[in-house]
Amino acid sequence: MLESKMQNQKIPLAIDCDPGIDDAWALLLAAAMPEFDVRLLSPVAGNVDYVYTSENLRRLAAWYGLPGKLGRGASQALEISRIDAGDIHGKGGMAGFDLPPTERPFEQAWSWDLLYEEACRAEAEGGLLVLAIGPLTNLALALEKYPDLAAKLRGLVLMGGSAGPGNHGPYAEFNIACDPHAAQLVFESELNLAMVSLDVTHAAALQREEMQALCAIDTPYSPLLKAIASFMPEQAVLHDALAAAYLVNPELISWEEVEIRCECEDDVHLGQTVFSFSGRRFERFTFPPLCERTSRPLHLLSRSVNREAYVGELERRLNALKK
Ligand code: RIB
Ligand code: CA
Repeated sequence: MLESKMQNQKIPLAIDCDPGIDDAWALLLAAAMPEFDVRLLSPVAGNVDYVYTSENLRRLAAWYGLPGKLGRGASQALEISRIDAGDIHGKGGMAGFDLPPTERPFEQAWSWDLLYEEACRAEAEGGLLVLAIGPLTNLALALEKYPDLAAKLRGLVLMGGSAGPGNHGPYAEFNIACDPHAAQLVFESELNLAMVSLDVTHAAALQREEMQALCAIDTPYSPLLKAIASFMPEQAVLHDALAAAYLVNPELISWEEVEIRCECEDDVHLGQTVFSFSGRRFERFTFPPLCERTSRPLHLLSRSVNREAYVGELERRLNALKK
């Protein structure tokens, strides 16, 4: 009875991000996902400074009509100094676009405390799912402060890492490079996780005509999407949008079970993700509710993407937001 009741329930969702132009896409998709109930939104320093990522999240959440608490996040990594991607996202992180102002407030509490609170609340609903599309500092702080958090979470979908070349230097992907110690702490935890990696997000790059068609869909947000498109190269890679789209369409990505290690010592390879493959592959994967959870944590790495289905999913979700 519980399972069948649970099948019709919205899945509780927390989104941790560093908006960022592709984060803005992922958050917009989240606003068109009736399958999920957004409980918590938290910013972290990453693409640009925390002062911008936090204000961008606050304004995007209000403009998009995303529910959920806004929790204050980390403005710096656990150990290393800030790195920045302002050249890609624009100084303020939003491709120079002025987001509509809002009075919507942040909670007083830190996001890691709110994450634990929401995880406890969502246990009876099959568990809270976390989508992390920025550096993993907030999640690492939560796992360190609350040793039983991993067992209370349905799972983690993260955009980060790479089974190929990096995009912050030759070896490291940006989200992991921003805070490798946080990433290693997450990889060592008992958390079920699915890593949407850079090599696969690149395989899902949008052609210019596809991006133009998506931006032409008449939603209140198309001016922002057009500004973002103007900041993107010929082949637009919306890394975080793929991680978000996967949440509602598990057919998009195939997976392989791995053990993941993040390089935290060697300066040249700092932030590189190193994988041991088990050979166990999944053509599709969704996190089961907590009551169906297997004993040991499952770590999955994305291996392929159905690019056409992905573009179709973006179109479907934008059409649901039309004026
Ligand atoms: O490497 C791409 C990732 O780093 C994306 O999440 C992008 O927004 C940046 O955070
Ligand atoms: Ca991001």
